[in-house]
Amino acid sequence: MKPVPHEAGKSSYALIDGAAFLEALPLFDVRVALDLGCGVGNYALPVARRLPPGARLQGIDLWEEGVSTLARAAAEQGLTNVTAAVGDLTDLGMVPDAQADLVLMATVVHDLVERGHAGAALAEAARVLRPGGCLAVVEFKKIPSKPGPPVAIRLSPNELAALVGPAGFRDPQTVDLGPSNYLSLFRRKALP
Ligand SMILES: C[S@@+](CC[C@H](N)C(=O)[O-])C[C@H]1O[C@@H](n2cnc3c(N)ncnc32)[C@H](O)[C@@H]1O
Repeated sequence: MKPVPHEAGKSSYALIDGAAFLEALPLFDVRVALDLGCGVGNYALPVARRLPPGARLQGIDLWEEGVSTLARAAAEQGLTNVTAAVGDLTDLGMVPDAQADLVLMATVVHDLVERGHAGAALAEAARVLRPGGCLAVVEFKKIPSKPGPPVAIRLSPNELAALVGPAGFRDPQTVDLGPSNYLSLFRRKALP
């Protein structure tokens, strides 16, 4: 058994306005969605329920117990369009280039920044998204609120855009998800 990753077992889904989140996601033309840093799938399962017929979602996380919990919950709920795999966001070797239409990273980017892994993980998110595909990032507002990470390591929407844009993304849009959280949506730039 691998060591349990930092922040494994934490989820922001109970803090957010779930209806606003699901409404803001451009799901109508998605065939392949990835939830990177899926944990137990608190985001992955409701997103998978909303996908168009024939579309599928894969959750990926370093945390083995989270991945197996997601796979079990999907099976129990009859969600045959969900798979879950153990993987490192900085090296998604199992995912082909430009395969995904939607990549979700829910309250994981601030932690990747903290650990010096954000550059590699965002490069992988860009690699696996098709041009025009959507990167959806949920983060904590840069204000004191509990539960959540220390304010010093939270990312404002502008800080997030400054990080994500150079990795190959354009057109940031921010959606309020309640007192603690926001969603930023980005489009994958066309390949040069
Ligand atoms: C705060 S939790 C968020 C879980 C989920 N997105 C949610 O909000 O319900 C962050 C997750 O990212 C995972 N994680 C952190 N760094 C990772 C990495 N380099 N590769 C894969 N997973 C990672 C952790 O194991 C953890 O499950």
